[in-house]
Amino acid sequence: MPLTSPQKMFENAYQGGYAIGAFNVNNMEIIQGIIQAAEEEQSPLILQVSAGARRYAGQTYIIKLVEAALQESDLPICLHLDHGQDFEICKEVIEGGFTSVMIDGSHLPFEENIKLTKQVVDCAHEKGVWVEAELGQLAGIEDDVKSEKSIYTDPDEAVEFVERSGCDSLAVAIGTSHGAYKFKGDPNIDLERLETISSRLPNFPLVLHGASSVQPEFVDMANKYGGQIEGAQGVPEDKLRRAAQSGVCKINIDTDIRLAITATIRKQFAENPSEFDPRKYLKPARQAVKDMVQHKITHVLGSSKSI
Ligand code: G3H
Ligand code: 13P
Ligand code: ZN
Repeated sequence: MPLTSPQKMFENAYQGGYAIGAFNVNNMEIIQGIIQAAEEEQSPLILQVSAGARRYAGQTYIIKLVEAALQESDLPICLHLDHGQDFEICKEVIEGGFTSVMIDGSHLPFEENIKLTKQVVDCAHEKGVWVEAELGQLAGIEDDVKSEKSIYTDPDEAVEFVERSGCDSLAVAIGTSHGAYKFKGDPNIDLERLETISSRLPNFPLVLHGASSVQPEFVDMANKYGGQIEGAQGVPEDKLRRAAQSGVCKINIDTDIRLAITATIRKQFAENPSEFDPRKYLKPARQAVKDMVQHKITHVLGSSKSI
């Protein structure tokens, strides 16, 4: 099965009130764990690659790993660039065969964000590639796009932005943030704002970044075996479920994968100190990714059996 565009996935998700998981991938074990979970759940999938992941693994390796997954699976799988920071990186991955790109001009002034997004849209659409854009800013730090505080998406601006940029989906800022430390006190997610944006853009797919729920079981496990991940807090899963019913068709998850792997490897190291075969600790880590993704698909995204 060749890589697919998100278009049909999102149409079905929008109608069905569920979301597609967009999981960040960096290596073979992560890709295999995610694919195994989606296979069991018969769920469509987005595998996304950040600029940092692309530097770490190399674009060719990532593409070849995803091709291997496609050879063994009949699932609809989309390969997406996460947080493309400029036109050049978008163009490079489009030429490499990605079926979807994000151009993240969220740090730019409104007019400049529109201009950059439109430039990517013109190039991507020529090749049938999907374009996600972002309006508003999430707090938190990614490798290549930085923001110190969050600026929520304005619904009027969102409508104008979509019309003028021609983007295919829009990432909105409603209080989520990247990483494991999303909230100090109560998790404050502006679902009303999301509903307003969605009602102003009917049938238009929205995207939620910074959507890991930071599962306490993995934080506790990491800390129990020598980690220092204190005060971590993610987005409550019931809020993500509601977002999936309010126009959000794509939910981005990276931190939960990192936590599942790290906690599991820490436990393996602590319990088997004389072991030094990487397969012995990477196998349970891959299994932890699979179990976590399966939980997301069934309990958070709602995308099981939607192929
Ligand atoms: O949104 C950012 C993703 O979590 C990717 O993170 O840039 O460290 O690969 P990264
Ligand atoms: P998390 O850090 O919450 O997993 O968000 C990931 C993300 O938004 C990738 O673009
Ligand atoms: Zn993101």
